[in-house]
Amino acid sequence: MKLVVTAKLPVVVAPRAPGIEVVQLPPEGGPAGDGRMPLDEVAAHRPDGLVCLLLDRIDAGFLDRVPSLQVVANVAVGLDNLDVAAATARGVCVTNTPDVLTDATAELAIALLFAAARRLGEGERLVREKQWQGWSLDLLLGVPIGGATLGVVGLGRIGQKVAQLGKALGLNVVYTAPRPSPAAEALGLPHLPLDELLATSDFVSLHCPLRSDTRDLLDRRALSLMKPTAVLINTARGELVDEDALVDRLEAGQLFAAGLDVFRGEPKVSPRILACERIALAPHLGSATTKARMQMAELAIDSAVSVLRGQKPRTLVNETAWPPRSRSTTARDA
Ligand code: DGY
Repeated sequence: MKLVVTAKLPVVVAPRAPGIEVVQLPPEGGPAGDGRMPLDEVAAHRPDGLVCLLLDRIDAGFLDRVPSLQVVANVAVGLDNLDVAAATARGVCVTNTPDVLTDATAELAIALLFAAARRLGEGERLVREKQWQGWSLDLLLGVPIGGATLGVVGLGRIGQKVAQLGKALGLNVVYTAPRPSPAAEALGLPHLPLDELLATSDFVSLHCPLRSDTRDLLDRRALSLMKPTAVLINTARGELVDEDALVDRLEAGQLFAAGLDVFRGEPKVSPRILACERIALAPHLGSATTKARMQMAELAIDSAVSVLRGQKPRTLVNETAWPPRSRSTTARDA
């Protein structure tokens, strides 16, 4: 059995995969110098298992080029880099890394909420650029947080944690999800249709996966429902939001601020977003704590190893691909 790991990980892989040949980048990194193995090289290894990043696009074409593959273990909770349906159709198991990044991502959402509400980016720039003229009554006034309404869009693990943190901070928390969630009952959260949540919330935080039905969820029409004093937080995926419409509303004073950790086409960020003072920016740092990143790597490796050993992993996302089609012999014989 061969396990290919497409990137440098913060854990040593081999001891977690006894009896499995592990193929990794040499210490000096990949040919592009970005610490990643190109997918052509991955395919040439004809792996049985793959541990990959959200930067690796695993589509039907790639899966067809690697008929030996039994499992793709994504070092991320999001799966939008992977064609899960194509993997399922080919009997390839897909796993992700839920739970271990929940706290880190929820905490970053709250950090951005504070940064955007209290205009911390603008304040930092003012001080660093030596433009600060001194204390004044009307300098960089923000919006209040305690007692405001926080609308959580998507009540999965991260959404629930944001709701808990919001309640602890004295926010009134409401949520929207395709259907009312039992977890919400335990937290005492009212369920609202998306449009009503947008129209009544002071803070809106996005925590839904990127899929065809959520792409552009916050389009121009949806954004126009938000209060002019409201703040939008996105730590999920950039493609959930129409970025041009967002900047239009911020520039026109029809929305107070935004806090963005994710962008369409990242790492490129639209010049309009870069120029918009009212957006607090972070470079996709949701899960970026040492603990979360180590646990994500460990979980992905362990999930891939489980499949290669014939054991169903806890983090399997495509149940119907289990057990994986045993394709190694035919693939290698071909
Ligand atoms: C994920 O796991 O999907 C996150 O975006 C990584 O931080």
